[in-house]
Amino acid sequence: MALLVDKARHQIRAVAQWLNLTLETPGETQARILYQPLETALIRIAVDLRIFNALSGERNGSKSLDELAAVTKADPALLARILRSLAAFGAVRQTSANEFKATGICETFTQLPLSDGSKFCFDVAGMAWQYLPEFLRKTGHKEPFDGRNCAFNMAFRTDEPIFDFLIKNPKFLEVFNSYMTSRRQGRQSWLEFFPLERELVTGFSNKGNAVMFVDVGGGYGQEIQEVKKRYPDLPGRMILQDLPDTIKQITAAPNTETMAYDFFTPQLIRGARAYYLRNVLHDWPDTQCREILQRTASAMKKDYSKLLINEWCLRDRGSSVYATFLDINMMADLQNLVGIITW
Ligand SMILES: C[S@@+](CC[C@H](N)C(=O)[O-])C[C@H]1O[C@@H](n2cnc3c(N)ncnc32)[C@H](O)[C@@H]1O
Repeated sequence: MALLVDKARHQIRAVAQWLNLTLETPGETQARILYQPLETALIRIAVDLRIFNALSGERNGSKSLDELAAVTKADPALLARILRSLAAFGAVRQTSANEFKATGICETFTQLPLSDGSKFCFDVAGMAWQYLPEFLRKTGHKEPFDGRNCAFNMAFRTDEPIFDFLIKNPKFLEVFNSYMTSRRQGRQSWLEFFPLERELVTGFSNKGNAVMFVDVGGGYGQEIQEVKKRYPDLPGRMILQDLPDTIKQITAAPNTETMAYDFFTPQLIRGARAYYLRNVLHDWPDTQCREILQRTASAMKKDYSKLLINEWCLRDRGSSVYATFLDINMMADLQNLVGIITW
């Protein structure tokens, strides 16, 4: 039922988008597309000023410009200009010349992972997007495959791959990891269609310290939390593995066993029931994907361990905006997402 409702919602949105594009004049088209980066910049400013937090919960009532200036400590004249622009694209609602209230967009960005997402996408990924055209011009419009030579490297004048760069910039690493915890909202969870009990619990050898599930490159443990919520009585250990700096940043992963582990080194947990890789392989070109998978495969127990890959696959035609943009984002920041489906 939920799936049908979601499908209908997508269809209605597609029609609304078509209608919008059909009614748009060329002048409106150029203003919408060419000025679109300012939308992201305004959201980023609003996140800095915590405007959305100040308005949150005020959907029925409004806050005055003076009240917002007092909370945000921003110059009222500047704030008025920012709020007016935010209202123009629906990020806040302007109820009178000097009164504002929350909208759905506003409530969305009060969630920490999403406001952190705005910081990561604007301050790091967005910089790479800005350089992508120049990078592709300079490299003769060839598909990039080198994680030390991407638009990201051009933008930040570094030859380090992005994860090394993030480790050296803990604030960026923190907003990246926080953002990663959000990227499942509104999407169907694999737990809704994967018969976990049949595939993993049946046949699980629950002896001694047996490991049920290893989340390789699992970030802050968002997937393990989901599995635990849905299967609170799952037998065996569940282990979250990620880079040491990410593991150090984890403040809330209740009852989760964490382990610092670099997936380009031999897998530390041998013979687990399941090794799970979600949104990990798309960060790497084929050569490194093979290495990660070989490291995992050599720790697996024959006829017992299972490899679970939860990844994006792009359709040749009709892929969503988010999926295709994620592909281009990977090309700008890392190497190439499309590699994953040809692998
Ligand atoms: C795109 S995030 C996905 C996080 C999580 N699996 C999810 O789906 O939300 C990729 C993860 O790979 C981790 N990672 C990157 N390089 C790694 C390495 N060499 N060894 C272990 N983890 C690594 C990152 O720290 C990050 O948590």
